Amino acid sequence: MFPSTRLRRYRKNEGLRKMFSLPFPGPEKFIWPVFVIEGKGREIPIAAMPGQSRMTVDVLIKRLEPVVKSGIGGVMIFGVVEDSKKSLDGSYSFKKDGVVQKAIREIRRHYPQLIVFTDVCLCAYTKHGHCGILDKDGDVENDSTLSVLSNMAVSHAEAGAHSVAPSAMMDGQILAIRSALARSGFKDTLLMSYSTKFASSFYGPFRDAAASKPGKGDRKGYQASFENLNIALKESHEDEKEGADILMVKPALCYLDIISKVKEKTLLPVAAYNVSGEYSMIIASAERGWGDLNGMARESLMGISRAGADIILSYWANRYEEIVD
Ligand code: PBG
Repeated sequence: MFPSTRLRRYRKNEGLRKMFSLPFPGPEKFIWPVFVIEGKGREIPIAAMPGQSRMTVDVLIKRLEPVVKSGIGGVMIFGVVEDSKKSLDGSYSFKKDGVVQKAIREIRRHYPQLIVFTDVCLCAYTKHGHCGILDKDGDVENDSTLSVLSNMAVSHAEAGAHSVAPSAMMDGQILAIRSALARSGFKDTLLMSYSTKFASSFYGPFRDAAASKPGKGDRKGYQASFENLNIALKESHEDEKEGADILMVKPALCYLDIISKVKEKTLLPVAAYNVSGEYSMIIASAERGWGDLNGMARESLMGISRAGADIILSYWANRYEEIVD
């Protein structure tokens, strides 16, 4: 009690502050989400996400060089394809020479130490922009979607992905993909489930970047509701039982409590996805002179880590050195 308790003693100088601080997560804990497009020598900045762009595979390989040098642990690949490649069932997603499959092979060849994750979801490959196949009423049909997701995951594993990450929020997708990988001989492919993924308003900039906005309706019929804590937690619990190797909470910043709760209930590693809206919000604020960009980025990432995330998917990953400086 005051005056004998004086907590300011711990932070009187930089040395003391450092001594009693939690460490900021190292670069190896970060995964950089990237958007790949077809063709050669093209890079299209994403207006809603300054500092990020859609790139052809050759450009991505160049952009990855400093990122790999900075020690970033991995990349998460998203494919962005032309409308002509989109269909009702998203079958371009599992083509052997598809843009994601090419990106996986090239990244593995150039940067063998970098861990390659891939997003497994149909929204960027369907004409209607939903994450699965639609039934005659326009609802996403769970069970027929599972086989397309499984084909996609196997094709990513075949191309050399270390980890596939299903994000479609279909029931049973982890079991289906785990079985398909096993049948095809990929017993060592890590399965990182977007296990508790919320129907969030913070995905806006991403949907522009990936051209994956649903034409009609929203994703509330399959993504978790932020108004139901128990079901949100059960989503992760079920995926663990189905055979996920890594669980994930997405988005991160509005869901720090969920990250902590998922972490308390599992012995698996927990990932957090610091999504596009969370990134762009900080940039927009800094651009208006309302806060220090690196300070806000660092503080938000520390929060995600403190909540219990073992690994963090974040668009800050390609500017890690700038942020920690
Ligand atoms: C695909 C997917 C989305 C994101 C990651 N995978 C979009 C969505 O669910 O609509 C969002 C990532 C971000 O906002 O950074 N389903």
